[in-house]
Amino acid sequence: MLLFCFQIMFSACELGVFDLLLESKELLSSAVIAERLGTSHPEMQRLLEACVGLKLLRMERKDNEGLFGNTDLASLCLAKSSPRTQYYFMKFLSDIVYPTSQYLTDAVREGKRQIQSAHATAANDLFGAVYSTEERLQRFSIAMGDAWCLYGQELLSAFDLSCFQVVCDVGGGNGTLAKEYISLYPKATVTIFDLPKVVEGAKKQSVASEECQISFQGGDFFKDPVPEADLYILARTLHDWDDDTCEQLLTKIYKACKPGTWYLNKRKHGQNRSTTCEALLGCRHCLVLTGALEDLLKG
Ligand SMILES: C[S@@+](CC[C@H](N)C(=O)[O-])C[C@H]1O[C@@H](n2cnc3c(N)ncnc32)[C@H](O)[C@@H]1O
Repeated sequence: MLLFCFQIMFSACELGVFDLLLESKELLSSAVIAERLGTSHPEMQRLLEACVGLKLLRMERKDNEGLFGNTDLASLCLAKSSPRTQYYFMKFLSDIVYPTSQYLTDAVREGKRQIQSAHATAANDLFGAVYSTEERLQRFSIAMGDAWCLYGQELLSAFDLSCFQVVCDVGGGNGTLAKEYISLYPKATVTIFDLPKVVEGAKKQSVASEECQISFQGGDFFKDPVPEADLYILARTLHDWDDDTCEQLLTKIYKACKPGTWYLNKRKHGQNRSTTCEALLGCRHCLVLTGALEDLLKG
C-alpha cells in the first residue's frame, strides 16, 4: 500500500503536475492538465483523483467539473522548481532503493547486500553502484541534499553549536548541510571530507561566496586521516556500514579528537533496538542496499 502511495506521488511529480499547478496560480481541470503535460486524459484524471485522496492536491467543483490545485505540501516539496523540492530524493528511491528492495528475500536468506543483483552492476557496494557514472553520482549527491534543504536548519539549530568554529562533515557529500551550517553559524568554517570523485563534483558546484568558509578534502575515511576539527558531523553516514566498520570509523574520529571536540551523529535507524515503523523500514532498506545488518535485526 505504501509503495502504491509513493508511486502515485512520484508519477505526478515526475510528470510535472505540481509544477504546472504552482505556475498556473489557478485551479485547472484534468483535461487542461492532461493537454498541457501531453498525457492521456482519463489516466491523468485518475492520477489527480488519487492525489486528492492522498491530500497532495485539492479539488473544487465548478459547473460540474473538478478543478485541481496544489496543497501547501505539494507546492513546497513536490514541485520540482521549489527550492525545497524532494523530487531528487524520490527519484533515488524510485531508481535505486525500490528496485533493490525486490531482493529482500535473498538478502535475508544470504545475509548480504543485493545491489549487484538488482542493478546488474560490477560494483559490489552501494557507492560503487551509485557512483558508476558521473551522472549517477551527481543525481545521488543532489538527492541527499534534498533533506537538508527541507530540515537542515531545524536539525542544526536544535543544539547551540556556535562555539564550534572548525567543523568537518565526514561523508558530507555535495555540502548542502555545510551550506546550512554556515548560514546559521557565519563565523564557522566547514571541511567536507568525502571520496575524491564526490569532492571533485561538489567543488564544481560551489559558489564563490561560500569558498572561504567551505572547503573540500577528498579521501577514504577508512584509509586516510580525517581533517582536524572541533566538531565532527556524521550525517546519514554510519547507517551505510555494519557495526564493526562503524566502530573502525568512530575509533579513527575519536583518536583525531582533542579535549573539547564534539561529534554530531544523525542516528542509525533502529538505535536502542527501537521497534518504530520508521526504524524497521530503515533496517530493511539498509540490509538490502548496503548489507548493514542493523542492531535491531541482529537483536
Ligand atoms: C548516505 S550519504 C550521506 C551524505 C551526507 N552526509 C548527507 O547526509 O547528505 C554517505 C556519504 O558517505 C560518503 N562515503 C562513503 N564511503 C566513503 C569513504 N570510504 N570515505 C569517505 N566518504 C565516503 C559517500 O560518498 C556519501 O557522500
